[in-house]
Amino acid sequence: MNIETKRLVLRALEPEDAETMARIINDPEVRESLGAYNLVFPTSNELEKRWIADSGKRGDESNLAVTRRSDGRMLGLLALRDISDRNGSAHLAIMLERKAWDKGYGSEAIAGVVGHLFDAFNMHRVWLRVDQGNARAIRCYEKCGFRKEGELREDHFAHGGWRSSYLMSVLASDLRRGPR
Ligand SMILES: CC(C)(COP(=O)(O)OP(=O)(O)OC[C@H]1O[C@@H](n2cnc3c(N)ncnc32)[C@H](O)[C@@H]1OP(=O)(O)O)[C@@H](O)C(=O)NCCC(=O)NCCS
Repeated sequence: MNIETKRLVLRALEPEDAETMARIINDPEVRESLGAYNLVFPTSNELEKRWIADSGKRGDESNLAVTRRSDGRMLGLLALRDISDRNGSAHLAIMLERKAWDKGYGSEAIAGVVGHLFDAFNMHRVWLRVDQGNARAIRCYEKCGFRKEGELREDHFAHGGWRSSYLMSVLASDLRRGPR
C-alpha cells in the first residue's frame, strides 16, 4: 500500500532506484546536510543496489521512495527506523535531491508519513536527529509539528569539527491539538 499526498506517492524502493539513490547521496550539498548520518565515502550504483536488497529484511524498518505524482520522478528517500509497536514510536530520516528542495515536498512527504503512522497504525511518537546548523531541515520539521526536545552535544564530526544535533519529536496528541 502506497502513501499518497497531494503531489507525492511514497512507495517501496525498487532495485532500479539504486542509480537515483547513488546520484543523490553523491551530491556534496546533500551529503553535507546529513549531519550524523553523513557517509564518509562516495557510494556506487552497486552498493546502493545491495543496500536496497537488504533493506526491508528487518521488520522494524521501512525505506520509502519519495516520488512525484505528476511524472513518477523519484525525489528522494524517507526512512523509518526502530519502529516499535510496544512504544508506538518510530525514528524518521529523509533526504531529497537538491533541485527538489524548498518546494514543500519534504514537509508534504513527512506530514503524509507521520499522519499515516498516527492514523493507520495508532503510533504515538515520531522522532529524529538533525544537525543544529541545518536550518532548512529544522524549519521543515517544525512545519510538520516537530518540536525540539533536547540536544546531543558534539555528537558527530563534520565540516572539520565536532558538531551538535537536536533531537526533535512530534506526538499524535500535538497534531490533534491543532497548530500551535
Ligand atoms: C531537509 C529536506 C528534507 C527538507 O525538504 P524541503 O522540501 O526542502 O522542505 P520544505 O520546502 O518543505 O521546507 C523547507 C523550509 O525551510 C525554509 N528554509 C530554506 N532554507 C532555509 C534557511 N537557510 N534557514 C531557514 N529556513 C530555510 C524554506 O523557506 C521552507 O520554509 P517555508 O515553507 O516556511 O518557506 C530537504 O531539504 C533535504 O533533503 N535536504 C538535504 C538532506 C537533509 O538535510 N536531510 C535532513 C537530515 S536530518
